[in-house]
Amino acid sequence: MRILLIGDIVGRPGRQVVREKVPRLRAEREIELVVGNCENAAAGAGLTPKTANELFNAGIDVLTSGNHIFDKKEVFQIIETEPRLLRPANYAPGVPGRGVWTGTTPSGHRVTVINLQGRVFMAPTDCPFRTVDGLLEKMEKQVIIVDMHAEATSEKIAMGWHLDGRVSAVFGTHTHVQTADEKILPGGTAYTTDLGMTGPYDGIIGVKRDLVMDKFLRGMPTRFEPSEGDVRLCGAIVEINENNFRATSIERLMLQQ
Ligand SMILES: [Fe+2]
Ligand SMILES: [Fe+2]
Repeated sequence: MRILLIGDIVGRPGRQVVREKVPRLRAEREIELVVGNCENAAAGAGLTPKTANELFNAGIDVLTSGNHIFDKKEVFQIIETEPRLLRPANYAPGVPGRGVWTGTTPSGHRVTVINLQGRVFMAPTDCPFRTVDGLLEKMEKQVIIVDMHAEATSEKIAMGWHLDGRVSAVFGTHTHVQTADEKILPGGTAYTTDLGMTGPYDGIIGVKRDLVMDKFLRGMPTRFEPSEGDVRLCGAIVEINENNFRATSIERLMLQQ
């Protein structure tokens, strides 16, 4: 089976390129499941019920997220009731929402998606390594896909090796810059350090240049807004053998709008 993974969708330009490209990719590449990171989908930070629906209607099956998931208060209207929307599983007990989705693809294959968040150069959370170990202990063998939302490349690579042979794919999100290190690890886990941003590339990781420059040059508090031009969809297509749950290929995607 083929699964399409989409990196951090930023603002209206990101949602638009998803709407334009995902339905066609789904059909042409015979994609069974689409997973996309939505933490920046609403105006560059957070998610609202409306933007979530837009992404589901465009053909994304499961939305993963990360440190920006609670930036828009409207997300609390859906985070407890929408099973296809995840926040990192290693947030503290009692935090609204969930970090795991399990469902069945149109051809009847069971798939689980797990969302984790790193701890290096990020706000403190529970340990993502021990959290995922605890989750896997209770799960039967099946296709399992992990979004490791993290800043440090080393922590993401460590997670790839930690889960090699235990899950079908580990992909990184959060930095908004695509890495070129996609590979199949020896145990059969597809891995890439960062899928890259789905959104506007004429700014600074999706934000208008002048706003970010002002912050760097003068240190003034700034309200970030998504930039608009050079829009691309970034991600990867992973092929998985549904009999042994091992990945057989991973293809990096960067599609110009
Ligand atoms: Fe992001
Ligand atoms: Fe993030």
